[in-house]
Formats: sequence, C-alpha cells, structure tokens
Amino acid sequence: MKKNTYKDALSHPVFTTVAEAANTLGLDTYVIGGFVRDFLLQREQPTDIDFVAIGSGIELAQAVAQKMTHKPKVKVFKNFGTAMLPYGDLELEFVGARKESYDRGSRKPVVEDGTLEDDQKRRDFTINALAISLNKTDYGVLLDPFNGLEDLEKQIIRTPLEPGITYSDDPLRMLRAIRFATQLDFEIELASLQAISTHKERIRIVSPERIVEELHKILACPIPSKGFGILHSTGLLDIILPELTALEGIDEIEGQRHKDNFWHTLEVVDNISKATDDVWLRWAALLHDIGKAPTKKFDKKIGWTFHAHEFVGSKMVYKLFKRMRMPLNEKMKFVQKLVRMSSRPVILSEDFVTDAAVRRLVFDAGEDVDDLMTLCEADITTKNPKRQKRYLRNFDKVRQKIVEVEERDRIRNFQPPVTGEEIMATFDIPPSKEIGILKEAIKEAILEGEIPNEPKAAYNFMLQKARKMGLQPK
Ligand code: CTP
Repeated sequence: MKKNTYKDALSHPVFTTVAEAANTLGLDTYVIGGFVRDFLLQREQPTDIDFVAIGSGIELAQAVAQKMTHKPKVKVFKNFGTAMLPYGDLELEFVGARKESYDRGSRKPVVEDGTLEDDQKRRDFTINALAISLNKTDYGVLLDPFNGLEDLEKQIIRTPLEPGITYSDDPLRMLRAIRFATQLDFEIELASLQAISTHKERIRIVSPERIVEELHKILACPIPSKGFGILHSTGLLDIILPELTALEGIDEIEGQRHKDNFWHTLEVVDNISKATDDVWLRWAALLHDIGKAPTKKFDKKIGWTFHAHEFVGSKMVYKLFKRMRMPLNEKMKFVQKLVRMSSRPVILSEDFVTDAAVRRLVFDAGEDVDDLMTLCEADITTKNPKRQKRYLRNFDKVRQKIVEVEERDRIRNFQPPVTGEEIMATFDIPPSKEIGILKEAIKEAILEGEIPNEPKAAYNFMLQKARKMGLQPK
C-alpha cells in the first residue's frame, strides 16, 4: 500500500491544529474509529472525531484548546482517562492509548498505558480500529494491524481479538455489532455471531438507556428487520424485548392457523420505513401487535381471536417504555395511541366508508390521523397481489375521504362550537351536568353529520335539545 494515501481524510483544519499540539508535546497521535471508517466508506462524516495519543490524551486536549483563539473548556473524564472539547460543530474526543481489561461486573474499564496497537486491539471491531497517523514522520499513513480495511471491503463485522473477549469486555458491543451490520448492510462473521449467542446474558449489565440508543439506531435504518432478525437469532431479543418474541410462532387448531405475528411485525417495520423517517412511528409499527400474545384465544365458531389486543398492547407500551427507561412523555402517548387505534382504519376500509365513520376516526386520531393511515398501509403484508391492491385502494379511498371531510368539517382539532360559558349564559344556569350533556349532544350531532360544524347550526341544535330537557333561554 502506498504511504500517505489517506492525507485526503485530514483536509479539515482541525487535524493540523491537533498535529501541531501533539508535536509540541512530543506525543504520537492518531485519528481513529468512526471518523476513519466513515471516510473510507465515503459516508457522511460523523460530528465526533476520536484521537488517540501515546501518552496523556487529557494533556493533548488541553494543548489543543490552548491553540484555539476562543480557548474552549476541556471536559475531562478522569476515570476513563479521556477528554472532550468542542471545535465548531465538531466534538473532539481524546484518549491516551490503553491496554485495558474490564471489570466483569460492570462496563467500567481498568486502564493501563499502552501502545497504539494495544489500544486498537481493545476496540470493538476491526473496522473501528483503523487509525491514521498525525505524526510528522508518517502523516496520513493508515495503521491497520487487524485488516480492518479488508473487512470494510468485504463488508464484514469482525472483532480484533477473539470475539468472546471483545464482547464480554463490553457487552454493549453485541448490540453495536448488530447495529453496524444493519446500518452498513454488512455481515457479522460467524464466530462473532456465535460469541454473541454465548454471551447474550451479559447484556443484562448494560443500562436500558444504552440498549435503547442502539435500538433507535437500528430502527432508523432503511431495513430494520435485518437488525431485529439478528437480535432474534442470537437470543438477545428474547432478553431485551420479550414482548416481541412472544409473538413468534403459528398455532393450528382444527385446521385453522393464524399468521406468525413476529415476522409479520418485522415486515410492517420495513414497510413503514419506506414511508417515514419518524423513529417513533417506526416504534409504533414495531409494537403495534404486542397485545396479540396475551390475548390470543381459539374460538370454535370464529377461529383465532385477539380480542382487545390493541387496548392491551397500548397498556404494554407504557410498561415497556418504563422498563427500558424511555421517555414517558408525549412520544410514548403517541406510540400508545397508534397501537390502540391500529385497527380502526382497517375496519373502515372493509365496509362502505361513511362520512360519519371517517369523521369519528379523524376526531379520535386528531393530528395523528395521517401517521395512523401510514401505519395501517404498512400493516398490509398479504402475499396475494390482488388482495394487496384492493386493501391499498380502500385505504386510498379512506385517505381521500379524510381530506374531503376535513375540508368541510374541520374535525382534526375539534373545538366545541358552543362553549360551556355560552350555554350557562343562554339559560342562566350555574355549572352543572346539563352543560356536559348539551356539549356532548352537539359533538355527536356534528360527527353523525346531522348538523355542520358551525357555531350557528350548533347553537340552534342546542336550543332544540335544551327544550327537550326542559331548559328555556332566559
Ligand atoms: N468503541 C469501542 N467499544 C464501544 C464503543 C466504542 O471499542 N463499546 C470504540 C470504537 O473504536 C469506536 C470508537 O470507540 O469507533 C468511538 O465510539 P463511538 O463514537 O460510540 O462510535 P463510532 O464508531 O464513532 O460510531 P457511531 O457514532 O455511529 O456510534
């Protein structure tokens, strides 16, 4: 290999600054990790750049900060021997080369000084262990003792050391392997896959937040099923998301079978990923059927039923988010709502679509009605092309109806056209249950299409209804 081939990777001025600071301190320094990998893959460059110094990474970070005009503050993580400093939009991470082993009970490393190669061999994957020199003598040279470049070309995820060591050193790497395989569309080498299966239980020492971070990244990929398939085959999914693996399998009673809801779910996730980048909508697709495992029953007359699985599923979403320490905020509520409503448009599209049914759907889904339709379209996984066409056509009709009804009736952000105050003033009555009854009657009349969603029509309707209740305007 020709020397200095990789100088192109170092065109950003940050590399000159770091190289000068390192030279002044007499520290051999290299850029390493994701930056080098993504440069070689011609992927979009990451915003964090990792540097490794043969000596103190913290001292180097401080020297680099001193060379900058605005003297940014260096964040030092003493326990890890690392330091971070911002540089424009970039985050620069510095570490001293380490020979490290991990405490088996946690992910905390025990650190000793080491050579560049010591450091490279303790990294997760060969493709992440590639380093480019910033030293005067060999500036721009690629240091690749574990053939990471070859693995990049062959599209293989491989660990520098025996995989069992790399994964038990830091079990998060099992998820990282699967995430990189999904992001880059690489294959994990067999020995690594086997080691993941062997060490899968060690994932339990990884914090839920870190696990979720990787799950998010897998879900954000163009074909998330690749990652979830590997999570499943290695046994990790059973530990981290047992609600999903509980959906696997097909039962047969009296010749009646139901579909395998696990593999169906993965298809739905891939389908929705073609339609949206919204990771929360992708979560909704992943979890939309989780209520089917606990609600599955066989009924001699009807066959397999999953009664109220949407409702049960939405309750399970809360428990799952809580267990995984995911945010229990509007994002969770969104996922719950989509799971709870996931069958609504399906029922609509099977029958003749009435305006009233569409209005009710829009009323209940509100702002999320388009996302709900996207989920339902993704839920079509029939292999029968005629049926698939018919379902899609029906959903298209529902979508058109939604637009028509919305233009006319503005149901999406429904505000009562007659307020409680107006009702009290009209009849000169104090706050009472009659007000609730009248407001509900107005809403129902609008949804049923008996009256338009307009204040005047609603007011007249209210007068009629009130009269029947024995109320007279003052
Ligand atoms: N690394 C590791 N083991 C981990 C995490 C990180 O060995 N559990 C090493 C790898 O060499 C990695 C580098 O630290 O390349 C930087 O980590 P990080 O920023 O998390 O990953 P990137 O490779 O930059 O990729 P991404 O930003 O996509 O996570």
